[in-house]
Amino acid sequence: MAKQYWKPSNLLNPVPCVMISCRDEDGRENIMTAAWAGTICSEPVMVSVSIKKSRYSHDMILHTGEFVMNLTSRKLVKAADYVGIKSGRNIDKFDLFGDLHLTRMDSHIVRAPSIAESPLCLECKVKDVIELGSHDMFIAEVVCTSIDESIIDENGRLDLAKADLVAYSHGEYFALGEKLGKFSYSTHKSERLKTRQINNQMKKKKMPGKQEK
Ligand SMILES: Cc1cc2nc3c(=O)[nH]c(=O)nc-3n(C[C@H](O)[C@H](O)[C@H](O)COP(=O)(O)O)c2cc1C
Repeated sequence: MAKQYWKPSNLLNPVPCVMISCRDEDGRENIMTAAWAGTICSEPVMVSVSIKKSRYSHDMILHTGEFVMNLTSRKLVKAADYVGIKSGRNIDKFDLFGDLHLTRMDSHIVRAPSIAESPLCLECKVKDVIELGSHDMFIAEVVCTSIDESIIDENGRLDLAKADLVAYSHGEYFALGEKLGKFSYSTHKSERLKTRQINNQMKKKKMPGKQEK
């Protein structure tokens, strides 16, 4: 396989596309979109988001130490794009109309608001801020998760497929597509059998002498 070697660039893809809602000490509220967000710890549950200092949201989060990470569904993708282009310095992003409208909702624990239309809202408290260069990375603990009841099944289990979440890849938004497997499926009996058959075939090809015996 021929390769080309390029200089480093941000090509880790796909990434999530979340809307970060926040509130400053004077009660002004805002939303920005972030793709450079990730899960970083399970105990305690922690996430990170990298935000440029120039964003209006940056100082709000820095001073209050709180934000909400609102996951984006297919229905919300146009609004997510818009709040990721326009700055809250110039507009109230909780006061948009039509398919750009996002409804402000009180969060359960933090003072930063949540977005009512988002299927999953992670309420976060900042634990650390790391200055990396172009972006500051906010490391935060998730202190509460609000889940839309429409994605909880009759047995009380989360059915995340119903959330219809989107991903962001190389400047474009994508709906999640075909399910390819489940966690640990590669180790299940039927898959192990397939792998063994392939391995045996490969061995036979490599050792034709043995095959003849
Ligand atoms: C899909 C998408 C992903 C983005 N990801 C980030 C990000 O991870 N970090 C960041 O600082 N800005 C990111 N932005 C840009 C900000 O969302 C944008 O500058 C926004 O207008 C900032 O809003 P504010 O000034 O009201 O805080 C992204 C924008 C889009 C559309």
